Amino acid sequence: MIERELEADFVLVCIASRDPACGHGCGERGRDLILALETCLDATSATPPPLVIPTGCLGECAEGPTVVDVLARRAFTCVTIDDAAEVAKSIANWRSNREWISKT
Ligand code: FES
Repeated sequence: MIERELEADFVLVCIASRDPACGHGCGERGRDLILALETCLDATSATPPPLVIPTGCLGECAEGPTVVDVLARRAFTCVTIDDAAEVAKSIANWRSNREWISKT
């Protein structure tokens, strides 16, 4: 086994489908969100944007689609394609503020 510090920066987008009897799932809505979020992050970030990774259930099914900014330990729920720009801006701003704090 090799253990090392992870340098990748990534955002998770749930694409899990659930049995409708078990409540909402993110499924197609999450899949549709991935490209929109990638495009908005590319346009927003001054630094290399985080990778957008499709993933399984993130435990917020009733409020999906769910996006998790792993580095910031924040979740965005009920995210639509129309929200992609705002989410990307929030993700980029968090990183920008973090860099500013680390320089002071
Ligand atoms: S199905 Fe997406 S958070 Fe559970």
